[in-house]
Amino acid sequence: MATSSSDSFFIATPIFYVNDVPHIGHAYTEVAADALSRWMRQSGIPTWFLTGTDEHGQKIMRTALANGVTPREWADRLVEQSWKPLLKTLDLANDDFIRTTEERHESAVKKFLTLLHDKGFIYQGEYEGFYCVGCEEYKPLADLEDGAGEFEGSKLCPVHSRPVEVLKEENYFFKMSTFQQDLLDLYAAQPDFIQPTSVRNEIIAFVNRGLDDLSISRSNIDWGIEVPFDSEHVTYVWFEALLNYITATGWGSDDEAFAKKWPAVQLVGKDIARFHAVIWPAMLMAAGLQPPKKVFAHGWLLVGGEKMSKSKLTGIAPTEITDVFGSDAFRYYFLRAITFGSDGSFSWEDLSARYESDLANGLGNLASRVIAMVHRYRGGVVPALPSPTPADRAIAATMKDAVAAADAAMHAFAPHEALGELWRIVEDVNGYITEQEPWVMAKDDAHAARLDAVLYTSLDALRSLAVTLSPFMPQATSKLWEALGASHSLGPLAEQHIPEAGSFGVLPEGSAISELAALFPRIEQDS
Ligand code: ME8
Ligand code: MG
Repeated sequence: MATSSSDSFFIATPIFYVNDVPHIGHAYTEVAADALSRWMRQSGIPTWFLTGTDEHGQKIMRTALANGVTPREWADRLVEQSWKPLLKTLDLANDDFIRTTEERHESAVKKFLTLLHDKGFIYQGEYEGFYCVGCEEYKPLADLEDGAGEFEGSKLCPVHSRPVEVLKEENYFFKMSTFQQDLLDLYAAQPDFIQPTSVRNEIIAFVNRGLDDLSISRSNIDWGIEVPFDSEHVTYVWFEALLNYITATGWGSDDEAFAKKWPAVQLVGKDIARFHAVIWPAMLMAAGLQPPKKVFAHGWLLVGGEKMSKSKLTGIAPTEITDVFGSDAFRYYFLRAITFGSDGSFSWEDLSARYESDLANGLGNLASRVIAMVHRYRGGVVPALPSPTPADRAIAATMKDAVAAADAAMHAFAPHEALGELWRIVEDVNGYITEQEPWVMAKDDAHAARLDAVLYTSLDALRSLAVTLSPFMPQATSKLWEALGASHSLGPLAEQHIPEAGSFGVLPEGSAISELAALFPRIEQDS
């Protein structure tokens, strides 16, 4: 069994289906994982961020057929034209990207199946049930809805509002029922294993009702990974997709690399919490491996009160937002406006309002006015900090408190709270400048020392903001870092240690600052 790496941070997103192009729901998971991993990495914690694509199964096979290409051609096209470009669109710093059609995945999946087969956790049986291709999952009859209109007489999947199909097959089964008590013990021993609490309670209730064994192979399709002990079958797409988290990190081929990373934090949408908090840990237990460190299920982006999705034609492409507002604003908005773990409604009005108030008028305006004053009054040189007054010390105290609170919030998977804390610095420094009136001090040489102190304090607060906001807004903060002259005086932004970023008096006096173009330019409101 691998040794636990409690002092490291390995975070993985779901791997996304390539039947269609990404929408802002997928992008939401990606930017949350990216901000969390950048924060941990910049806190000196060994960090690994994995994302990727889920390419087998009936859904993708049928989409490919409908488009007149092979599933492999379809997957290649979607990955190259849409899913990999998403990484750039969102400015993601992922360490790896796994595709389930890669050889490293396929060979390790076969190894895993052989292991569970040898251990007696896989048997052959017959199955008949209602299958939803959209979910790639058998559905209990009790969960289905009665169709109406064009679907009169059919049973519908409640998620996709489309008819389920009756499948009857000779399949291989995974003895998942064996792990019911072990799973309940895990949830009890590790209360933060499933977060948030609402999802945890739902999962515990589900497992308490009893677990069925899981059908893990298909003989009616061939777009999948061949079952190593029966070439007539391919592996059930969910069973192999879950394995990406360990096939990407060296399980079965590089035990040392694997031991350094595993176990992972699984960041998922609540739609697939059950796969990650029930099936996945049971599979790992069967193999004698550690369960994930945590399964955090975030909420849904809603459009018009419903979960946004392509199948319901409510999908919004991430580029529709980033082309207008930029990737930083995209990242900021979704991580700030939605309580992480709850559902949140997306609206263009809300996005525009936040951009305007928090970014353009808040952080952007603060940065440009401070930089401009240092050029105007001090020739673009960081002044000294003469003996601070209570007002200066109050800013130093806010910096210290806010950064500590933001750090705690990030460790608790609450990026919305972390941003709220850091914005106290933006607001307090904006208020401080208004109160101190440095433009009045500048008119009288007798106030030169006070002017130095106000400018220094404001600059050092910007230094602290650049460091702590860089996991959220890598582009704007690196422009700010350059303007502060800090890459010369303090070194690269990515190397600044976050936990100490709230200390006061770090920016060296006498260093030169440069010009700063508007961080968040005004958006032309037309059409
Ligand atoms: O389920 N709001 O892939 P998928 C928030 N391949 N997040 C959303 C969202 C919304 N409206 N819509 C999608 C699969 N997401 C499987 C996963 S993992 C081994 C296999 C995000 O393409 C959210 O993270 O349907 C959700 O869990 C995921 O996309 C589902 O992506
Ligand atoms: Mg889905």
